[in-house]
Amino acid sequence: MEKRIELTNAIGQVLQQVTHAPAQDIHIEGKPLRGGIEASGVTLVTVRYRNHSRRQQMFRLVAKHLTGRPAREAAVYQRIVAAYARDLAPQLLAVEGTGSGDILLLIEAVRRTTAWPWRSLEAGEELLARLADFHTAAAGATALVPEWDYEAELQAVAELTRTTLEQCRSDPDLAVLARDLPALDRLVRALPAHRKQLLSERPFGSRPIHGDLHPGNVMLSRRGGQDTPILLDWGRARVSSPLEDVSSWLQSVSYWEPEGRRRHDTLLAAYLSALGMDRRLTDSLRAAYWMAAASNALSGALLHHLSIARNCGRSSPQRTAATKAARDALRVVRRADAWWS
Ligand SMILES: Nc1ncnc2c1ncn2[C@@H]1O[C@H](COP(=O)(O)OP(=O)(O)O)[C@@H](O)[C@H]1O
Ligand SMILES: [Mg+2]
Repeated sequence: MEKRIELTNAIGQVLQQVTHAPAQDIHIEGKPLRGGIEASGVTLVTVRYRNHSRRQQMFRLVAKHLTGRPAREAAVYQRIVAAYARDLAPQLLAVEGTGSGDILLLIEAVRRTTAWPWRSLEAGEELLARLADFHTAAAGATALVPEWDYEAELQAVAELTRTTLEQCRSDPDLAVLARDLPALDRLVRALPAHRKQLLSERPFGSRPIHGDLHPGNVMLSRRGGQDTPILLDWGRARVSSPLEDVSSWLQSVSYWEPEGRRRHDTLLAAYLSALGMDRRLTDSLRAAYWMAAASNALSGALLHHLSIARNCGRSSPQRTAATKAARDALRVVRRADAWWS
C-alpha cells in the first residue's frame, strides 16, 4: 500500500538534482518493498511535482533505512561501488544520517526487464563475467572496504548453528536433519583453519566481494541498449574469498532453477575463464569452492532456515519450505566436509 511521506532533506536534494529548478505541488508516496534476512526498511518512493512550466512530472527512487551493522552499506556505495561497480549497481543518489547512527540511503529505482532471466545460460554467464570483472577491478581496494569483523561473526553464527541443529534431534520432524551433526561439528571446529586456507587460495585470495549474491539481489535491467545485471544490496560487502560470491550465486540459482543446477559446472567454468583462468575444475578449485559455499551456509542462512523450521508460530508450509532449504544447506556442509576432512 502507498503511504504519503514527508519531503526529507535527502529527497529534496535528489529533487534538486533532477529538476535543476524550483518544483511545486510536491507529493511523495512510499511503498514498502519486501526484503531479505537483513533488517532494514526498503521503500519504493514516488515523487510527483510540477516543473517551472507547471507540467506534471514524476520520478522514482528507492530509500533504504539502515540501522546497526547494515548501515555500512552507505560507505560501500561511496567507496567501492562508486569506484569499481558503477555499471553494475543502482546509482547512489544521496545519503542522510538520521541520528543515532541510522542512515537513509537513496538509490536509483532499477526497472527490471525480465522477472526470472536465470533459465537462460547466457544471462547467467553474463552475470558471472561481470562479477569476475568487479572482483578483478576491486582486488587492490581492500583498504577501502568499511570495517566488519566478518570472521568473528561467522564463527559465532556457525557455533549457534551447531547448537540449533543439536536441538533438532529431539524433534521428530527435524531429527533427520541432525544426521549431519558430525559433519557440521567437524567443520565448525576447524573453521578458523579452513578459512585461513580458503582466503589464501591462489589466485583468488581475499579481496572486496559483494557478499550476498542471490536472485533476490540481482535484477536484469536495460543499460546502454542492452540487458545488464544490476547488483542490489551491498550491505554484506566485505574482504573475503571471491568464491563466496560465486558459490552463493550458483547454489541459490541451483536451488530455484533446475536449468541452473544442470549448468552448474559450465557456469563455474565461465566465471574462471572471465577471470583469465583455465576452465578446468581441478580438485583444489572444487575443495575451495565447497568451503566458500559452506562458509555462506554457516554465516546465517542455515541458522535462519533451522529457526523457522523449529518455530511453532510459523505456518506449516513455511516450516516445510524452511526444512527443505535447511536440508539443501546441510548438503553443502557435507560436501565441504568430504573435501576437507
Ligand atoms: N534500487 C532498487 N531498485 C528496485 N528495487 C529494489 C532496489 N533496491 C531494492 N529493491 C527491491 O527491494 C528488495 C529488498 O532490498 P534489498 O536492498 O535487497 O534489502 P534487504 O537488505 O532487506 O534484502 C530487493 O530484493 C528488491 O526487490
Ligand atoms: Mg536483499
